[in-house]
Amino acid sequence: MSGAEQRGRRNTELGEEPLGDRLPTLVAEPPGPRSLEMGERLGEVESRNVTFLGPEFPVFWSEARGANVRDVDGNVYVDLTGAFGVAAAGHAHPRIVAALEAQSARLVHGMGDVHPPEGKLAFLEHLGALVPWSEPRTVLASSGSEAVEVALKTALLATGRSGVVAFTGGYHGLTLGALSTTAREDFRAPFLPRLPRDVSFAPFPDSLRFGESAGRAALDALDRILAELEERGTPPGAILVEPIQGRAGVRVPPRGFLGEVARRARDAEALLVFDEIFTGFGRTGSIFAFEEEGVVPDLLCLGKAMGGGLPLSACVGPREVMDAWPPSAGEALHTSTFLGHPLACASASAFLDVMEEEALPERARLEGDRFRSRLRDELEACPWVGEVRGRGLFLGVELIHTGADAEGEGRDEASSPRPRPWAGAGAHLATRLLRRGLLVLPAGDRGEVVELTPPLTIDRRQLDWAGSVLVEEIHQLRR
Ligand SMILES: Cc1ncc(COP(=O)(O)O)c(C=O)c1O
Repeated sequence: MSGAEQRGRRNTELGEEPLGDRLPTLVAEPPGPRSLEMGERLGEVESRNVTFLGPEFPVFWSEARGANVRDVDGNVYVDLTGAFGVAAAGHAHPRIVAALEAQSARLVHGMGDVHPPEGKLAFLEHLGALVPWSEPRTVLASSGSEAVEVALKTALLATGRSGVVAFTGGYHGLTLGALSTTAREDFRAPFLPRLPRDVSFAPFPDSLRFGESAGRAALDALDRILAELEERGTPPGAILVEPIQGRAGVRVPPRGFLGEVARRARDAEALLVFDEIFTGFGRTGSIFAFEEEGVVPDLLCLGKAMGGGLPLSACVGPREVMDAWPPSAGEALHTSTFLGHPLACASASAFLDVMEEEALPERARLEGDRFRSRLRDELEACPWVGEVRGRGLFLGVELIHTGADAEGEGRDEASSPRPRPWAGAGAHLATRLLRRGLLVLPAGDRGEVVELTPPLTIDRRQLDWAGSVLVEEIHQLRR
């Protein structure tokens, strides 16, 4: 019996329903006294910018399984964050835990790019069978940001050009190269002098504000940017885009948009890079979000769910693109100490098995469609809900101003006011929901969205309960 199974049995023997598919149990109003006390201690040891510490936030996690999290005060929550979308197979899936236990008994750390651990090969072969190229080549890394760094380096090697076109709202990570392509001003402003300047931002379609013409307007703007770069003699080496923007508030572009971006990348002889770090591995109802659009990129950035809970990321592309990297002459040009870490590769291989055997993409589509339809129906009449959007179990609810403050700058074609984002409403709602036993995260440039990215294994009863609580709290937001 694995350690995970033993723990599950222990809980049951204690007369407690094991964590996984439970509804919440709150024993102390969150954050309880232990979380508050730990928050004070954390403030004494961690740099003050890292964890937001307040009287209502956060709770310290002690245990998680399936779609349940238990905090240090003993409160049990339903998790609609998937811990940043990572826990696609559910927290501590027994199969992944067993693979980790077996691996840690054999080889904890290896020499990724020198004497490779055997598990690196097994994982790369499995990953290679999922991507759309017959001869894929991969560089592994640990964080999503680093996968984006590798994509940017690959584009420079392949095209000889360092310029990048990225999109407004786009989030690609916070290391300096990745940050130069991340559009959020608050993340960029303090570090501007360190950031490469050859990144242009094209507008990502915003259908809530610009309706059906959003895609067209965004493509026209992209055309203008590309023409200007061409005129200046600095065409881009890459066009970098999230097929569905995540941290921008789960923004889905209109159908056909990605195909049009792909055409422009081809015409500009730039690499088309899809950042599927958030969307990949079933979250949107297919293994990769690009499958829905029938567009194949030149490079794919992967991370988050891929590691099954351990830090693992990748930049993958077809051999003809990735062979822009020269053969190794003894020193890899891009590597890191933990590249191809045996525990991360074991966990990731087990995750891929679970994704396939439990048909997680299909589950995400089925449950996601159902959940989104329900939220749309029950929130349709709520004046401060701008949009319920997303695909699969990658959903966002945008909150907007109503009444006198409703009108944003300008008007759309039909001359009706453009909805104005309700800044901070996502965080406010997240705090209220925490007190109901539901974990969600805010998203959007101004924190105007609640982002819903639960484990793809979440039980229907949990989703139904979460839907009721979410709808109730959203309706009550203004009262
Ligand atoms: C689309 C996307 N790209 C890149 C990143 C950066 O990944 P990491 O935080 O692992 O560096 C994120 C993280 O949220 C992301 O959502």
